[in-house]
Amino acid sequence: MTAARPWPLGVDGIIYGGDYNPEQWPREVRLEDIELMREAGVNLVSVAIFAWATLEPREGEYDFAWLDEVMDHLADAGIKVALATATASPPPWLTRAHPEILPVTEDGTVLGQGGRQSYAVSSPLLREYALRMTRVMAERYGEHPALALWHVDNELGCHVPHDYSDHAATAFRAWLERRYETIDVLNAAWGTAFWSQRYDSFEEILPPRAAPTYANPTQQFDFARFSSDELLTHYRALRDVLREVTPQVPATTNFMLSSATKWMDYFSWAGDVDLVANDHYLIAADERGQIELAMAADLTRGAAGGDPWILMEHSTSAVNWQPRNRAKGRGEMLRNSLAHVARGADGVMFFQWRQSRAGAEKFHSAMVPHGGRDTDVWRNTVGLGRALEALAPVHGSRVLNRVAIVVDYPSWWAAELDSHPTQHLRYSEELLRWYTALWDLGVGVDMVPTGVDLTGYELVIAPTLYSVTDEDAGLLADAARSGTQVVITFFSGIVDEHDHVRLGGYPGAFRDLLGVRTEEFYPLQEGEILHLDDGTAADLWSEKTHLEGAEAVRTWADGPLRGWPAVTRQEVGEGAGWYVAARPSAEGLETLVGEIVAAAGVEASVSGLHRDVEAVRRFAEDGTTYLFVLNHSDRDQVVQVSGRDLLSGTDADGAFTVHAGSAAVVQES
Ligand code: GAL
Repeated sequence: MTAARPWPLGVDGIIYGGDYNPEQWPREVRLEDIELMREAGVNLVSVAIFAWATLEPREGEYDFAWLDEVMDHLADAGIKVALATATASPPPWLTRAHPEILPVTEDGTVLGQGGRQSYAVSSPLLREYALRMTRVMAERYGEHPALALWHVDNELGCHVPHDYSDHAATAFRAWLERRYETIDVLNAAWGTAFWSQRYDSFEEILPPRAAPTYANPTQQFDFARFSSDELLTHYRALRDVLREVTPQVPATTNFMLSSATKWMDYFSWAGDVDLVANDHYLIAADERGQIELAMAADLTRGAAGGDPWILMEHSTSAVNWQPRNRAKGRGEMLRNSLAHVARGADGVMFFQWRQSRAGAEKFHSAMVPHGGRDTDVWRNTVGLGRALEALAPVHGSRVLNRVAIVVDYPSWWAAELDSHPTQHLRYSEELLRWYTALWDLGVGVDMVPTGVDLTGYELVIAPTLYSVTDEDAGLLADAARSGTQVVITFFSGIVDEHDHVRLGGYPGAFRDLLGVRTEEFYPLQEGEILHLDDGTAADLWSEKTHLEGAEAVRTWADGPLRGWPAVTRQEVGEGAGWYVAARPSAEGLETLVGEIVAAAGVEASVSGLHRDVEAVRRFAEDGTTYLFVLNHSDRDQVVQVSGRDLLSGTDADGAFTVHAGSAAVVQES
């Protein structure tokens, strides 16, 4: 475990609040807001995220009166503010005067004014305006007693992860020159001998804009890396102004770590924020959405290096942007919130405080709904405030696991590029499948990046680690030698960091660790199912794998590869390397993961629970443990535990019932 970073927020206990957009409301409503925030126990609100056009209605003319008053009222009420740089949506006067700051899509479409985030992140002029606005905010509010945290921009890259404008082209070239230094090195890295793509100078290079056919894969790969770096560069530029003017105030921005967001490599961003903050929204159509939520929360803790983090946004009930926006069921919002806390969040916040009356998000739930106080949503808001107050002692404690899943954004980008054996591989789906199998066994997981020491884990799973450096492959082999069960799945170790195939047989980088050699892939057609020799099904993928030291754990029972290995295992030092050259069904994966977990000697955090009951422990430095039991099922669950349930204030001594749909947080004795 790495040394904990000091918690930068001067709020005792657990943070509670949401995005607060007072610019949408008249003064009397803002006054009522303060009363309601007190009633709910809110202690932090994010303010002015989309207020640029209200704060600076004309270039260089500012209207701060309303925000001054809001800040003062919040300070008087003891409510802290995560104040935004207000740069997330440039005002119409700016894009009208300088349409060249607008972002451009792959096919040349200019994304205009009227929504939000209509800026090209590489535009020097946009940068200049955003820096100026940031400085104005920092100078005006830097000493304000309500200010606790800077909220830089908002969900950088949310709508425009990739900009293909001329500004982007210029910045991409500069980024490439830093990476490769000479055009010859770039030509070698990009494999430009192929299809007459040789470049004679950096000036000839463009972003991978719409082309007659597949753009150069390494160009696409590097453009993904560049785009993530470019958004981070923008963050850093704004953050540096804040650090200069207000060195005493911590700064962050809201990440979007989940299975749905692939383009920002947050592991590489996390070192630049003073506190990791994440936004997460449930996939309403997913009946077991709590599993993806848990994975996202574990991923956020991974980005935070195990330190506590805050959930900056989620929803009290429905969102407005999915095809069918389901309202949350009884107890669901509390369970969702506590699931994040269980997995290391020391703050729970929402988009947004008061549900909008107008605009694109008026049907998005909030803490104060359209219906006012006599609603389930408001009662839930108040109820959560009480619950989080009771959980104050949990603050600062940590989650410890013996199993890790390796997550690598560059592999996510590269594995899903075009012109591959199958277009139907989804990296995050593979992560979630393995995560779900472990969830069903009640086993806690850390989601960790590549490039870190893994020897402390009993079990490490690297799903589809397609692009890997020799060093990172070496870290997985080191773990196996030291006693870890290391699992590598299909389409891993295939290419180096330039997307060049590792020759001599697949899975290139892992052949020695795994003791196998694959000669050819046999991807399956849509709907095609094969079986393994344990009778379970597999889809999407198969490959012709020779054993070169490993033994077969499963073989193909039908299809052209009948009798060939589908899952293998090789002893390595004190541990082992497992290769899963198939994509087993959920049932097949659960059995297999059961065997692997047993080989690793890992057990459920609490045994014997229904699979939809989530049990997670947080460990405090003084030895106190907090057991979160979240019952997502429709039946009561009896748990063997002793201690005090902080939520109900009752003592648990032995068999303790957590009712269907409800939650308990037991301070164990
Ligand atoms: C987030 C965004 C918020 C709000 C929310 C709605 O992506 O940061 O401003 O739009 O989604 O779910």
